[in-house]
Amino acid sequence: MISDFAPTVTTVSSAVEKVDADALVIGVAKGPDGPVLLPNPLAEKAAKGVSDSLKALGASGAADQLLRLPGVDGFKSETLVLIGVGPMTGEPDGGLSTEALRRAAGSAVRQLSSAGSVALALPAATVEQVAAVAEGAALGAYSFPHFKGSESARSKTPVAEIAVLTELKDKHTKPAVARASVVAAAVRATRDLVNTPPSHLYPESFAEAVKGHAQGSKLKIKVWDHKELDKGGFGGLLGVGGGSSRKPRLVRVEHSPAKPVAHIALVGKGITFDSGGLSLKPANAMTTMKLDMAGAATVAAVVKAAADLDLPVRVTGWLCLAENMPSSTAQRPEDVITIYGGKTVEVLNTDAEGRLVLADGIVAAGEENPDAIIDIATLTGAQMIALGNRTAGVMGNEDLREDLVEASQDAGESHWAMPIPEEAISGFESAVADLTNTGAREGGMLNAAAFLREFVPEKPDAPKDALDPEQKRIPWAHIDIAGPSFNEKGPYGYMPKGGTGVSVRTLITYLEGLAR
Ligand code: BES
Ligand code: MN
Ligand code: ZN
Repeated sequence: MISDFAPTVTTVSSAVEKVDADALVIGVAKGPDGPVLLPNPLAEKAAKGVSDSLKALGASGAADQLLRLPGVDGFKSETLVLIGVGPMTGEPDGGLSTEALRRAAGSAVRQLSSAGSVALALPAATVEQVAAVAEGAALGAYSFPHFKGSESARSKTPVAEIAVLTELKDKHTKPAVARASVVAAAVRATRDLVNTPPSHLYPESFAEAVKGHAQGSKLKIKVWDHKELDKGGFGGLLGVGGGSSRKPRLVRVEHSPAKPVAHIALVGKGITFDSGGLSLKPANAMTTMKLDMAGAATVAAVVKAAADLDLPVRVTGWLCLAENMPSSTAQRPEDVITIYGGKTVEVLNTDAEGRLVLADGIVAAGEENPDAIIDIATLTGAQMIALGNRTAGVMGNEDLREDLVEASQDAGESHWAMPIPEEAISGFESAVADLTNTGAREGGMLNAAAFLREFVPEKPDAPKDALDPEQKRIPWAHIDIAGPSFNEKGPYGYMPKGGTGVSVRTLITYLEGLAR
């Protein structure tokens, strides 16, 4: 479920001829007048030879274009590889953003999947650039062969040895590359969980996988099984999970450093399969619904990364795990359930289940009075209508929302701030309970956020006379990753098909920012 494969990533400063890798990668950018060979360590004559023949080789510099050339005379590497990095933006050093470098390195490593070792000679003159190449490469070294029938297919690994060529001598390089490896491992673990079929990943096995993954770390883990959930009054998880023979779980994972600068709670939607329940989805909408636990996978991976990086931030992760299935024990449309903490919800559509399990999780997380609660979920189809398949929506308290969007930019991911309009909550009025679980169709992503906000607890020390409820509540943000969590189209850059691991890098970068 979570593979322990990890490529080794090292920096190498020795002469390029001596680098003994299956493939040596150099970059080609799309310049204003055609392809441009990026700064590289080849001897002048060899570089000129390649540079002069770019057009003849058909190299355009377009992102993801990969060309294999025979190795250069006197070189240990057997193959010289040209990887397209996309357009130059005209800034110094070729004008490549760190994300362009990440993608180029990732694309090369991903496409050179049959090579055992790859050396990357991309522009890497600063610590940031070396780290970007290392991170991209480690993100590209991914495959998910575990459910193939033949032993030989199952045992094929991606590129296992990655060398980043650089002349840089800076003591910050080593920790930056080590961090890149941890971040990439967290992303790969998330992808693994998302890609694992629902036949094999269900609440109980998910909880076990998280426990197994935490072994050897200092993470504290607590699991509520369905009996304990019943005793505790977690009506969201029990209602949603009630239709399945695989019972729901709530998992709390904690990274608790000695002198934390802050306490952040992360709450993840973990629907291991979303059939819609009795409000059954049509067949074509049901495929990909194994992805519906991506939020919980992200939370598990980020808390583990916080521990691996020894971040001085206390992080408590809450994984809300259930399988949404139709059966005679499933919750019905018009049932009323009681969320943890006492608020009641009239369930009008059993396919709007994510918000119900998250409500339990948000209330439970809030009981510990963290400095902020961030929930992450594949919550609405409307997210994709609003922002497409590669951009996550971020809603909630303005400051927290902006901090997350900024962290996302720094991390090279795409997250966009979205509002929760005043009227968004109005569609949730119920004649019998506190709320229904379905709002207006228009602005579905924003409405779901408005519903979740109702469950964010007040700060115990909130000023009693504050008129603005935003000031009374624990700071909260919600990230909807319905589209970007899963790549249904072709692979690109360091992105494989299937689970993407989106938001892992953003959340780690956000936590690191608090530590600074
Ligand atoms: N898991 C889905 C959202 C989703 C859809 C994620 C497609 C990824 C791809 C969620 O539980 C859901 O079914 N949402 C409904 C809500 C509606 C019934 C109010 C939706 O978006 O249609
Ligand atoms: Mn659903
Ligand atoms: Zn769902």
